Amino acid sequence: MEKINGGVGFFDSGIGGLTVLAECRKRINDEIFYYYGDNEHAPYGNLPAEAIKKFVFSAFDTFAALKVKAAVVACNTATAVCVEALRKKYPFPIVGAEPAVLPAVKRGGKVFVLTTRATYESNRFRALCSRIRQKYPNADIQPHACDLLAGTIEERLFDASFDYTPFLPQGSPDAVVLGCTHYIYLKDRLRAFYGCEIFDGNEGMANRLVAFLDQINVKAREDGPLLSTAAKISPIFFLGSQKNTNERVFEHMFAKTSGFCNKSG
Ligand code: DGL
Repeated sequence: MEKINGGVGFFDSGIGGLTVLAECRKRINDEIFYYYGDNEHAPYGNLPAEAIKKFVFSAFDTFAALKVKAAVVACNTATAVCVEALRKKYPFPIVGAEPAVLPAVKRGGKVFVLTTRATYESNRFRALCSRIRQKYPNADIQPHACDLLAGTIEERLFDASFDYTPFLPQGSPDAVVLGCTHYIYLKDRLRAFYGCEIFDGNEGMANRLVAFLDQINVKAREDGPLLSTAAKISPIFFLGSQKNTNERVFEHMFAKTSGFCNKSG
C-alpha cells in the first residue's frame, strides 16, 4: 500500500527562511516543501516573546494539519523563543536555527554575532555563548542586537543601492556570524564591509534536515513503499497571507541555484 509523503514545512517571520529553503532544495530533490512566511507580522525581533510564540504556533498548526513529516524553524528568533515548546507539542521532528558561533570561534580572533533583539535577549542564545566560552576560554565573542535590520531587509531587498551601514555595529572583527536568516541576503555586502569571513547556519540546518529525512524514510520504507513524488526538483507550496510575496522573492533570488519553483498553496 502506498504511503502519503507528508512533506517538510519551513517557517520564518518573512523572507529570511527562503535562504534556508534554497539551501535545502539544493540537497533534497524528492520531497514536497511548504514555506510559511509570516511577513504580515514581521519583523519579529522587537516583539514580545508571547506574541512571537502565538504566531509561530499558529503556523505550526498549519503544518500539523498538512501532516508534514518534519519541519524547519528557518528563523533564529523563533527558534530562540520557542523551539523546545514546539518540540513538546508536535509529533514530527523539528530542525531549529542556531547562530554558527562555534565554527567562527574555532577559527580564532574577535567574532561579531549579529542577531535580532529577541534572539540576543533569549536564554537559549546566552546559553550557547556561555557553553562555547567555557570550552574555548580565549574566545572573543561579541554579540550585537541589530534593531531594525531584519525589517529593513524585508522592505528594501530589491533596492541594491540602499545603505545598511547605519544598522551595523562598527569595528574590526575577524569573523562575523549571521544569527538571523534575513541577514544572509547581505552576506556579500557584509564581507566587503567588514573584510572578513562571514558564517551562517544554513548548511548546518540542511545537514540536520537530510539526517532526519534519512531516518524517517528508512523507517517508512520498512513499513511499506513510499509514495514517490516523481519530482526531480522538490515542489514548493507557499502558505500564509503573503505567499505571493515569498514565491516572487524565491523565484527572483534562488530560481537559478535551486531550480525553478512553480507551485502556490
Ligand atoms: N529571520 C528571522 C531570524 O532568523 C527573524 C527576523 C525578524 O523577523 O526580526 O531571526
